[in-house]
Amino acid sequence: MSKGTFYLTTPIYYPSGRLHIGHTYTTVAADVLARFKRFTGYDVQFLTGTDEHGEKIQEAAEKAGVSPKEYLDKIVEEIKDLWKKMDISYDIFIRTTDQEHEERVQKIFQTLYDKGDIYKSEYEGWYCTPCESFWTETQLKEGHVCPDCNRPAHLAKEEAYFFKLSKYQDRLLQYFEEHPEICYPESRKNEMVNNFLKPGLEDLCVSRTTFDWGIKVPFDPKHIIYVWFDAVCNYITALGYGSDNEETFNKYWPADVHLVGKEIVRFHTIIWPAILMALEIPLPKMVYGHGWILFGADKMSKSKGNIVYPEPLIERYGLDAIKYFLLREFTFGQDGNHTNRNFINRLNSDLANDLGNLVSRTVSMIEKYNEGIIPSPGVEGEFDGSLKEIATGAASKVENAINKLQFHDGLEEIWKVVRKTNKYIDETAPWVLAKDEANKERLNTVLYNLAEAIRIISVLIKPFMESTTNKIWSQVGITEDQGTDWESTGTFGKLKAGTAVKKGEALFPRLELEKEMEALENINAAYLEKISGAQESKEEEIVITAKEQITIDDFDKVELRAAKVLEAEKHPKADKLLVLQLQVGNEKRQVVSGIAAHYKPEDLVGKTVILVANLKPVKLRGIESHGMILAASTDEKLVLGTVDSDIPSGASIS
Ligand code: ME8
Ligand code: MG
Repeated sequence: MSKGTFYLTTPIYYPSGRLHIGHTYTTVAADVLARFKRFTGYDVQFLTGTDEHGEKIQEAAEKAGVSPKEYLDKIVEEIKDLWKKMDISYDIFIRTTDQEHEERVQKIFQTLYDKGDIYKSEYEGWYCTPCESFWTETQLKEGHVCPDCNRPAHLAKEEAYFFKLSKYQDRLLQYFEEHPEICYPESRKNEMVNNFLKPGLEDLCVSRTTFDWGIKVPFDPKHIIYVWFDAVCNYITALGYGSDNEETFNKYWPADVHLVGKEIVRFHTIIWPAILMALEIPLPKMVYGHGWILFGADKMSKSKGNIVYPEPLIERYGLDAIKYFLLREFTFGQDGNHTNRNFINRLNSDLANDLGNLVSRTVSMIEKYNEGIIPSPGVEGEFDGSLKEIATGAASKVENAINKLQFHDGLEEIWKVVRKTNKYIDETAPWVLAKDEANKERLNTVLYNLAEAIRIISVLIKPFMESTTNKIWSQVGITEDQGTDWESTGTFGKLKAGTAVKKGEALFPRLELEKEMEALENINAAYLEKISGAQESKEEEIVITAKEQITIDDFDKVELRAAKVLEAEKHPKADKLLVLQLQVGNEKRQVVSGIAAHYKPEDLVGKTVILVANLKPVKLRGIESHGMILAASTDEKLVLGTVDSDIPSGASIS
């Protein structure tokens, strides 16, 4: 049964360049929150998207020598690819160039004009093009520089439409007092109240005539709707507000949380709520303005060039390591400095040493002392009680932390269990117990408790790092009937004795600090070089020679099925081959595949691939292969064919 709805959003990003680790940060946080809410029984809508209008985009397209639409389509594809690579579980991807969005924004604008909340006048002010923001003389920094980005603003004057922001000042102030969650954390709320609300709000200019890349004012088409007005409305237009069918909107609005960076808190806690008040729609329950990831003392930003891109990091260290680092290293809400040294140290200490070692030591000991079978617990001992207490008590603390968006605290609570379990190994010293058969019953308890604590940890980390969870489950032999839901972490003893463990590769290999520091120095530059232009030129080089035509009946002979990778390992006798164990509906299949040069075994576990299921079995270098999996390849590159989103294994493909 659903506990209710939960609607959360990221900012819709400007597609004016490749997204970097800063955008990734907000999106990963939102994704973890969405996964956590689904896992704990909520009906979730998770929105992200792109903010595609405005002068900045128009200029970027001109610079690239293409039309805005052409320019945008390419970057939006790259952004979607990035989210796919990062396994971001969004439900809605809105583009503000979607026709539905444009129509609905026009309707909103018209409604407010008809009500008298939008009126025509003249505007003169300082405009910062990169930020798409007007500033008053006093708000500017010395030298007429934009207070947000430190770049020069220029004077602009135009006939324009205004939104009566001032009219909502008192109601906003009162709302801030009664609903402090409208602006979190506290420090940002105080800033909004003291710097903006109390000094008094001026009406907001909500149209432009100096360029034309935007949504037209419906009743005066030489005016373009201000891009920030257009953009914030996405949160409701995406749910169908302003369309013939507002069912989804009625179901999910008001939003439970808008996640944003601190520089756009003002748009989300003052301008957006005032627009909603004018529309007589409830306000979002929470706006959370998190801090910046800084480089030195500077904000990482597309135009400053001090950028860390997520792709090469994921390639080198794995997705879960990056997600863990982002949410554990930085205190959500505050600014944090990014350094390569902290990054590697964090991966080594928390992931390789604490978690990775715990799993590999435990599995090894069960293999060594009990033939790879998790024993039934026998004799209780002095350290058991506190282990159980800490392990079973973690979920509520983690839940509390995540609900307050304190992801770093949530992870820290989980790592208390990890460290306690490692300590339990030292305290109980299984290798000493193993020396004397008389201690067998005590040893059994220790081994069981370790495996069970790992089960609890694996479930607690699932919203944060699901592929690590899956790897642990496959090593410890945890299946769905042995406690894999959130609730199960409150009980010690769900794991069934008699389950076989199976040692796999290290979850997180230990990294050599100096070597990685060197590699990280060049990783971004190398990545940019690799992607620039490489793709287009390749496409033209591939010569297509068609095979003989077939009928639909010919094609129908091929049985294609979705298959889930349960395990993968290197072929003992062939470097190029991997041996995969697949779940295909109610069947298990072993398939040998020539993809070892392109995939690490551990990266495959959990993936859904496409299996040619009725291919005659063959032996490849001595190992039986029952079918073949599909992949796309060029001379250098190979990627597996997979399905667009979750579907049970065994599903037929045609
Ligand atoms: O502002 N550290 O889009 P944008 C942390 N289109 N977070 C960062 C970051 C950093 N160094 N850099 C970027 C816009 N972010 C508008 C939003 S919403 C209706 C319209 C994240 O592409 C952070 O969430 O400039 C920030 O608010 C957002 O990216 C800005 O993305
Ligand atoms: Mg920005």
